[in-house]
Amino acid sequence: MTANPDDLWDIDEVRAAAEPTMPQAYRSFVNNEGMERTLEDDIAAWRELHLRPRALVDVSRVDTSVTLLGQRISMPIMTAPFVGSTFVHPEGEVATARGASAAGTISTLSMMGSRPPELVGPAANGLYWQQLYWVRDREVVRDIVARAMASGAAALCLTVDLPVMPAFPRPMREAWLSLLEPWSDGEHAMYTIRDYRDKPMGATWPDPAITWKDLEWLKGLSRLPLVLKGIIRPDDAVMARDHGADAIIVSNHAGQGLRSSQPVAHALPAIVEAVGNEIEVYADSGIRTGADVLRALALGAKSVLIGRPTLWGLAAGGAAGVQRVLQILQAELAEVMAITGAACVADIDASVLGLRSDSRQGKSL
Ligand SMILES: Cc1cc2nc3c(=O)[nH]c(=O)nc-3n(C[C@H](O)[C@H](O)[C@H](O)COP(=O)(O)O)c2cc1C
Repeated sequence: MTANPDDLWDIDEVRAAAEPTMPQAYRSFVNNEGMERTLEDDIAAWRELHLRPRALVDVSRVDTSVTLLGQRISMPIMTAPFVGSTFVHPEGEVATARGASAAGTISTLSMMGSRPPELVGPAANGLYWQQLYWVRDREVVRDIVARAMASGAAALCLTVDLPVMPAFPRPMREAWLSLLEPWSDGEHAMYTIRDYRDKPMGATWPDPAITWKDLEWLKGLSRLPLVLKGIIRPDDAVMARDHGADAIIVSNHAGQGLRSSQPVAHALPAIVEAVGNEIEVYADSGIRTGADVLRALALGAKSVLIGRPTLWGLAAGGAAGVQRVLQILQAELAEVMAITGAACVADIDASVLGLRSDSRQGKSL
């Protein structure tokens, strides 16, 4: 039974409503079954950052809006790209786009999603980014970029942290193998597989040979801003900046890529210090509360992305469920902003964490 989204009060409740409705194999995949540790480390690393209230600031109005790559959105929270949305809701990414847009924010469509840019872009009402995997046949990449542009994409987001598919442990591998068939054909088929069937086998698999110099070709395909997703090292952040990225997402794929990856909360400060004044820096992986969003912003991120919470919202209530998840996080963020003395997002700084210096504004505490 679908829950009434308005009755769900935090992300744990959304998850509890969603999980019983999800097919078992997909749920195992989403939960990283057998390799949960990295995601757990991410979640714990955010929570370990304690917050400090600030007294007697006028917070009678709290504004959570931000501008990302020139686009004004209602909150510093976007939805992350993920495969498999139609396993939890028949409209899949179209419903996610509609829900995010209703909440006033951006959704990112996976290139391995089940609903194509032509349906998702219009549903997002201009609040749509297109995620890309660099597959072996460049003409496929070129075509997806053209389709994204024609569908109203505001940015391209190239995922750079999975040059090869990891060898999953048994529970996740079995889940993955049982999902491969529906992902190739029928209502759940990935549009990138379905729409390029005439290409040789392997054309739509990630190309492990690409390097920084290839980015120039991708940049040349459009005038859209380029976001690189999956940066953990400051030296990679510098390379991203030097090779024309407009933004980066500090992410470890929430534990689905490199096992034992450094948590994003630990990686973020050095990356912000290296490039935060020149390109926009976002964060994802394990963000579950408005306080987590505040923590990421306090460490210098301009925005965060949320993956699983979006998916749970979609499973629990379709577009309304996604909207509810975003509104829950926005309301939680507004509350912690008020108690920590931030009337707007620009007021959030590292002092809320009790750290010795504010890497963004150079304030001494
Ligand atoms: C089921 C699932 C599928 C995913 N598919 C993609 C994908 O197609 N492309 C991508 O760049 N990231 C993908 N990711 C990673 C998310 O975009 C994001 O980095 C991560 O989920 C954020 O962490 P969170 O789920 O803890 O919020 C996927 C994650 C999950 C859980």
